[in-house]
Amino acid sequence: MSISIGSLTLKSRVYVPPMAGVTDLVYRDMVRQVDPNCLLSTEMVSSRALMHQPKTRIMDLSENEHPIGIQIFGHEPDVMAQAAQMAEARGADFVDINMGCPVPKITKGKDGCALMREPELAQEIIRSICSAVNIPVTVKFRLGWDDTTRNAVEFGIMVEAAGASAVTVHGRTRQQLYSGKADWTWIAKVKKALSIPVFGNGDVFEPEDAIRLLEASGCDGVAVARGSLGNPWLIPRITKYIETGILDDPPEEMEKLVLAFKHALGLIRYKGIRVGTNESRRHLVHYTKGIQGAAPFRARLTQIKSAGEALEILAELAEQAGGPSGKAFFLLNVEKCYLEYCEHPGEGYGNAKHSLHSPVDLSAITPVAIQ
Ligand SMILES: Cc1cc2nc3c(=O)[nH]c(=O)nc-3n(C[C@H](O)[C@H](O)[C@H](O)COP(=O)(O)O)c2cc1C
Repeated sequence: MSISIGSLTLKSRVYVPPMAGVTDLVYRDMVRQVDPNCLLSTEMVSSRALMHQPKTRIMDLSENEHPIGIQIFGHEPDVMAQAAQMAEARGADFVDINMGCPVPKITKGKDGCALMREPELAQEIIRSICSAVNIPVTVKFRLGWDDTTRNAVEFGIMVEAAGASAVTVHGRTRQQLYSGKADWTWIAKVKKALSIPVFGNGDVFEPEDAIRLLEASGCDGVAVARGSLGNPWLIPRITKYIETGILDDPPEEMEKLVLAFKHALGLIRYKGIRVGTNESRRHLVHYTKGIQGAAPFRARLTQIKSAGEALEILAELAEQAGGPSGKAFFLLNVEKCYLEYCEHPGEGYGNAKHSLHSPVDLSAITPVAIQ
């Protein structure tokens, strides 16, 4: 069964949806290294900020990452339409509208999930975007503002009628933030009421979860956000499990360590040494989850100040987890990209002038427990 989002036909039923401060160019590259087909999205970008910084690197797309959407947020229909046109001009395959972000900084200005309380304004935004661009328009929302006002079904019907080509539904209310469990049965109600594709979202951390979500909700596809942190292999494992019923093993520990290093290196190259090392710390921590005896190494990884330090710590961990041959495997595999990096260290990819920083305080919302 293939999913069509307007004119876009997908080869996968799995979507890595927007995560502010996470799904940047480098993160998406890591996903693409292990999965050629899943649907991808950028981090959310403020439509208002785009008016002042049209060249923002948040909207940088690379050639190999299609199919990919750019997610925008805001509440002014004309500004949102202009932002959508900019996303289209940047090469996005679709533009996604954020109507689910629960963070007070976003909702207090009528953006994100606040639009679920203003369906008329939301409708106007969708309509104005749909008439401004030629690419498909999608919307991501939650079950509602709180338990007493769960309006996802009516909201979804409105979204479809306003011209959206697909939706992603996170099975929580705004009030829940990330607490409790995602309610897949409510996602099912939305799916039942709509004829455009629906991606069910919330609490998929294993391939089996994805199957359960699809069965419980009847959704066309599944959106996997936190489960992909430090674990992009989850995405192809889900795809294969859905398509063939075959459940591949999780990756080998050494493979995880190699990609962890590539990710850190990529961030340092793209964002510069200071921002790059800083951001890579939490990714490194995620990649090393589940590796026996990694806890003390994780503590050190949260302090790294250079790619060299990350390499040293990861190599030690490789030796502890895989013995001398594990370490040799790790070093051999990172050597190539490290040498490449040494030839072009930092090289100003981190052009702060064109950067829009994530509007979300990630430490406040990142809901993944790190052991
Ligand atoms: C760090 C982080 C940042 C997020 N940023 C966005 C965002 O920019 N736009 C959006 O629509 N959802 C955002 N989300 C929500 C996710 O896309 C997803 O809906 C949510 O995490 C539930 O899915 P999961 O259980 O698979 O993680 C973010 C989630 C996390 C954890």
